[in-house]
Amino acid sequence: MRFAFCSRTGVPFTLSILALLVALLGPPCAHALETVCIQCHGSQPGKGGVPVGQWRGSIHEENGISCHDCHGGDPRDAVNAMSPARGFIGAPTEKQTPAFCGRCHVGIAEDYLKSAHGKALGTGGPTCVTCHGSHSVTAATLDIINENRCGMCHSYERAAAIKDAMTRTEAMIAGIDAKIRLLKGEGVDTDSREKSLFALRNTFRRLFHEIDTTHVEQESGRIRTELSAIDQSLAQYDQAKQQRKFIGALVVGALLLAALFSHLLKKTWN
Ligand code: HEC
Ligand code: HEC
Ligand code: HEC
Ligand code: HEC
Ligand code: HEC
Repeated sequence: MRFAFCSRTGVPFTLSILALLVALLGPPCAHALETVCIQCHGSQPGKGGVPVGQWRGSIHEENGISCHDCHGGDPRDAVNAMSPARGFIGAPTEKQTPAFCGRCHVGIAEDYLKSAHGKALGTGGPTCVTCHGSHSVTAATLDIINENRCGMCHSYERAAAIKDAMTRTEAMIAGIDAKIRLLKGEGVDTDSREKSLFALRNTFRRLFHEIDTTHVEQESGRIRTELSAIDQSLAQYDQAKQQRKFIGALVVGALLLAALFSHLLKKTWN
């Protein structure tokens, strides 16, 4: 489409459209999030500049969460940017970190504070940044649970049990998700199944931070039972599909037979 448009109207016109777009939306590569924080810190060597590079490409940048969203301050005033009067709260200490991240991740911070990790905050327990980092935060996966990290302060056993239960459940969720998409593509009404799966996935993704091995195992088991029920109800669609195929084949066969029969009948008649 676009190429046809280019060749018909000529390059200069396309360029002027582009120029107009750039004028309206800003240059495509410059970021909508450019702030005085990024400008000043980005030009600092060493410690002050490092966070900018780490934050770029993070899930926070992707979702529009910038320096001032976490640290406060005024992102538009280079002189007073880091003034407490403009809401600047600086970098959190280890003990302040869960509340710092928990302003946005409310439920998770609650679960964490109740957990053995939260109770050991400041006395050898991990904080959010031990597991997620502070600036190079990426989408959370079960890969975060590994022997290097989780064997650092205690034995890996309990972590491994949590990971095992969660990995099996996650695989099941992915499998059912794929089936639903396939059926949806074939025009099957999968709405209620999608909703059930969505709710189960949310419950599942809320499991980790309490790091209660027994609870994770029990809840994962319960979730898998409910997933099986969804899976079985999807299998019914498959059966119905097979049946429809079979009946379709029967009808086609019958029609062919009828055609053949009438052909033979016509022949004998003639
Ligand atoms: C004009 C340059 C400049 C601007 C603008 C600026 N900073 Fe800074 N920032 C610095 C310097 C220099 C330091 C290190 C010296 C210090 O700790 O006071 C620093 C330190 C920090 C620290 C570490 C403080 C600590 O407690 O260790 C944070 C966090 C921070 N800046 C965030 C921000 C945020 C968020 C903004 C925008 C709202 C911002 N900065 C704007 C220059 C700047
Ligand atoms: C998701 C929240 C979050 C965002 C977004 C964020 N920071 Fe931070 N930042 C932290 C945390 C937490 C710390 C405390 C250090 C730690 O625990 O690793 C920190 C520490 C710092 C420090 C002190 C570094 C040090 O080594 O003492 C500076 C400077 C800083 N951040 C600047 C920035 C700048 C500039 C940006 C934007 C590019 C930014 N931060 C974005 C959470 C964030
Ligand atoms: C001991 C390591 C550890 C600590 C401490 C930790 N997390 Fe997590 N976090 C994980 C793991 C592992 C997952 C992935 C769980 C999953 O895939 O279901 C995760 C998932 C997440 C998610 C995604 C959840 C979702 O609904 O998809 C967020 C957000 C998050 N953590 C934020 C935090 C915050 C905020 C804190 C501090 C209050 C924190 N985490 C403390 C390991 C940790
Ligand atoms: C100003 C709000 C805000 C603060 C403060 C904040 N985050 Fe986030 N965070 C978000 C948003 C928005 C997303 C993207 C949407 C989502 O996945 O929840 C996100 C995503 C995440 C994810 C990925 C979730 C996933 O789906 O896999 C993790 C992990 C995470 N944040 C950890 C942290 C940690 C650790 C801190 C503290 C250092 C922190 N966040 C501070 C707003 C915030
Ligand atoms: C910075 C140190 C540290 C790191 C890293 C760490 N833990 Fe822990 N963990 C603790 C402390 C302290 C306790 C409480 C004392 C204990 O039970 O060993 C604890 C307890 C636990 C418990 C027992 C909870 C209970 O209620 O009995 C589990 C499970 C656990 N951690 C899982 C993990 C997993 C999974 C990871 C990696 C994603 C991890 N830990 C990383 C320090 C750590």
